[in-house]
Amino acid sequence: MSLSRCHRVRFLPEGAWVQVLPSETLKDAARKIGIEMMSACGGQGTCKKCGVRVLSGKCRMGMDLLSPALKARGHILACQAYPEDDLTVEVPVESRLTGAGALLRHEEIAVPGYESGPDRYPLSPLARKVHVTVDPPTLSENMCDLDRLLKSLRTHSDSPATPTISLPVLRKLPQLLRANDGKVAITIVHLGDHDEIVQVDPSPQPHPCVGLAIDIGTTTVTVYLVNLKTGDTLQRLSTYNEQFVYGEDVITRIVHASRSEENLDDLRQAALRTVNGLIDQSLTAEGYAPEDLSCAVVAGNTTMTHLFLGVNPKHIRLAPYIPAAVDFPPVKAGETGLHINPQGYIFPLPSVGSYVGGDIVAGALSSGIADSSEMRMLVDLGTNGEVVVGNEEFLVASACSIGPAFEGGGITCGMRSVPGAIHRVTIEDKGNRIHLETVGDEKPIGLCGSGLVEALASLVRSGALDRSGNFSRDAARLRITDEDNDPEFVLLASEETQLCRDLALATSDVKNLMRAKAALFSGMQHLVTSIGLTMADIKRIYVAGAFGSHMDIRSAVEIGMLADVEASRHIVVGNSSVKGARLCLLSQEALREATSIAAKMTYLELSVDPTYMDEFMAANFLPHTNLSLFPSVSAQ
Ligand code: FES
Repeated sequence: MSLSRCHRVRFLPEGAWVQVLPSETLKDAARKIGIEMMSACGGQGTCKKCGVRVLSGKCRMGMDLLSPALKARGHILACQAYPEDDLTVEVPVESRLTGAGALLRHEEIAVPGYESGPDRYPLSPLARKVHVTVDPPTLSENMCDLDRLLKSLRTHSDSPATPTISLPVLRKLPQLLRANDGKVAITIVHLGDHDEIVQVDPSPQPHPCVGLAIDIGTTTVTVYLVNLKTGDTLQRLSTYNEQFVYGEDVITRIVHASRSEENLDDLRQAALRTVNGLIDQSLTAEGYAPEDLSCAVVAGNTTMTHLFLGVNPKHIRLAPYIPAAVDFPPVKAGETGLHINPQGYIFPLPSVGSYVGGDIVAGALSSGIADSSEMRMLVDLGTNGEVVVGNEEFLVASACSIGPAFEGGGITCGMRSVPGAIHRVTIEDKGNRIHLETVGDEKPIGLCGSGLVEALASLVRSGALDRSGNFSRDAARLRITDEDNDPEFVLLASEETQLCRDLALATSDVKNLMRAKAALFSGMQHLVTSIGLTMADIKRIYVAGAFGSHMDIRSAVEIGMLADVEASRHIVVGNSSVKGARLCLLSQEALREATSIAAKMTYLELSVDPTYMDEFMAANFLPHTNLSLFPSVSAQ
């Protein structure tokens, strides 16, 4: 490509210049210099989140898909704009993806009686380190190096099985034995049907045997670095999944991956970069090297697991919705590109079906619902909402397509829970009094999930919003513009924010949020009634997921997102997926239990049941058309 056909684009307020090819959009150009933009639709031009202002120069638009609000602000969509000139472009704060690459707040939630770790399962980690002294060979004791190593291992280990050895480790063995007077530390990974020696080091070794529990979520990725000898978690780190540039939800990413092998690899590499970044930071913090890590347990939804392993998830979104696999064998780390000992192993947790993955199996394991005698529920609130109901006898699960609304997707003023996000909202007296709190006490940019839930509940409580999601005509701060007929409630004037516009919640945003919460509640309700029970029969409801951890449960009940049961029955448990992965890392028995949970869980496809749509429609009110399901809310 001749550079003479390229144009230069200057991005403000950074003032940074970048050379842009004719085939590249302004969004591609911004990315080249590290300006990440919102991209819920993966650049399809439908989410309207990537608005920018062209201050000088000309662009050709792929598609003119501007909303009236963006047009009024003089914005164009960066994902649809191809420079035809040298340009100066301003990227407003609301179009920027804040928090990309940043570490997230990771608050460990301790729940009594939940995920009791090695107390619940015996400590029998997937990898162990054994220190041995191997006798030197003589003319009369002339066994080969490997046989002498295995003989020595039998005297140091209570394991009856004879491990195999990987070829690269065998290549190092003769020299290592002779250079260290036969004193070596052997790392052995337990692979279910046999053990394998994956690392030999000089002994003594300063570092204990460590492993990783990894949760690959559609939005966030979490890594725990765990001491496999003591069970202690040494590091807990989370960040946003770099796959966000290809779209916020799994369907958009599947569509992207299905288009070409290169696209599939882009998504695999993005997940890998995210996980490796966290691994590197964990190792640096503890002073370890990648070779010190020989095993990792990975929990993810079915699509994330496919993408991480580079398996095309195309058929997950096409009827009859069949994944390539639900049971994944342990994989050599070197085949995945994970920054650990390449001879080590990755254990992907099994999925149940296309839309209930290893993350939910891990959550069912860590919450203990599969070995409880009473009826319990796990609700995992992420980009998708998965629900599991059951006890020690059976488990049923469903996936509710709540979409990314509560993570800011599809909501004009929605954003992730990063500094500047409003996460606490109190609205009183039809909107005349408002109290807002932001993450990090920074000037507001938008509302994150917990803020959106509180805003809805508070608006209804204050009388500014009616039960069908329409603003009251006499609500304070109501603005009705003729051009798009979408009345909005102005939370803050632009000068009180970091935005170049007022921060407002539009009626269309409210309706999107209502659809999302209705999808979740009707899924929960449908699952419970399909097994002949009512919500009153569910003794504990574990609310999992990063968004669930910060959400005010009462507000979620008031808007009809969660069931109106005794408050003590709702138990917020944080990231149940990574906790389950950690249990499996520390206990072979827990890993076997995860496999049996996946086999035992029955997946209920909501979309094929005609009664589900009726339940969904009935739940599309605040809180619900059937107020008898929400007795405490209707009484207040
Ligand atoms: S409209 Fe540009 S990324 Fe969605």
